[in-house]
Amino acid sequence: MRKNLQRLAAVALAALAAVTIAQPTAPATTAAPASPAAAAGEPIKVGHFGSLTGSEATFGQSTSNGIRLAIEEVNKAGGVLGRPVSLIEYDTKGDAKEATLAVTRLVKSDKVIAVLGEVASKLSLAAAPVCQEAGVPMITPSSTNPRVTQIGDYIFRVCFIDPFQGLAGAKFARESLKAKTAAVLIDQAQAYAVGLGEEFEKNFIAMGGVVTVKQTYQGGAQDFTAQLLAIRSARPDVIYIPGYYTDVGNIALQARKQGITAPLLGGDGWDSAELANIAKDAIEGSYYTNHYAPDQPDARVQAFIIAYKARFNGQTPDGLGALGYDAARILFDSITRAKSTDGKLLRDAIASTKNFAGVTGNITINDKRDAEKSAVIVEMAGDPPRPKYVTTITPN
Ligand code: PHE
Repeated sequence: MRKNLQRLAAVALAALAAVTIAQPTAPATTAAPASPAAAAGEPIKVGHFGSLTGSEATFGQSTSNGIRLAIEEVNKAGGVLGRPVSLIEYDTKGDAKEATLAVTRLVKSDKVIAVLGEVASKLSLAAAPVCQEAGVPMITPSSTNPRVTQIGDYIFRVCFIDPFQGLAGAKFARESLKAKTAAVLIDQAQAYAVGLGEEFEKNFIAMGGVVTVKQTYQGGAQDFTAQLLAIRSARPDVIYIPGYYTDVGNIALQARKQGITAPLLGGDGWDSAELANIAKDAIEGSYYTNHYAPDQPDARVQAFIIAYKARFNGQTPDGLGALGYDAARILFDSITRAKSTDGKLLRDAIASTKNFAGVTGNITINDKRDAEKSAVIVEMAGDPPRPKYVTTITPN
């Protein structure tokens, strides 16, 4: 009965919103609440907003998988504070307005106790003020632009930030690839790409490199001929492209067609199985900085991959699956330490997260509500190219 009602509610919500995948998990206890003790069996509602469709669809889908795996595991183990966790999730379609709408709905109508998401910094920036004003903690698993957590004291992340990621990329370019010159090609429509491009450039120059050409594009563009011609004539040792995977795949294809052979270098925005599906061997021998690599020789990583594959049809998780899993588990850990789902108490507990053993590394939330962590360098290698762990770069 209750299940039917929930399903009905989910259908109604989906119809209303047209952006909904509302799938509240069935409560572990089925008995109707008869006493205050039994009422403790009410689900703890957690929200997720992510790009489940559109040109960054794998970002939201992988994050959702990671969150679901964490929820299923914790529910199997008796829930959080003895209560089951349920997930309410909306599709942002990679659009800032949809992101704001989704989070408004999660906070105001669904009354979730915390929000997980988004991946893209631009969408986290758009929606975070809603959580901040409502006093509902938000944890982005993966938005790396520094401004995201500056929105306010209820906004957290469990990933590193772009000043570090840009430094790691520049260091790898200078020290491992021995690049003296670089081209930079930036998606102007993404706060992430603009910020990360600046950080790479600043660090590459500080390490004695020269940025010989800078070009821009708008995410979703199909033709990169003009930019690539300008880059080709500058003959850079490396081409830094801190964009998202669909555009990067198209750029790689067109660059190789134009006879550009320099390695491409990018950031975590490359992290999708779709990158190689689009670019095929055009992306082979290129590198990116990331939060995790599936072949990392680390017991925690390998245990996570086994659980994820068993749950999701043998799919190998990307970094977003791992970060979604870590963000959800840090949230559960914080609720447990707060002994409450109250917004203020929960905020304080998330803020005091120390040395949490995540799949993406040990996570400590610092006083800026960011996580200081290592980055890995990944090479696209093999036929078809797949992410291959190269090395780890640690802060300081
Ligand atoms: N860091 C990117 C951003 O802030 C998002 C991202 C993270 C994409 C991890 C892929 C993997 O926009």
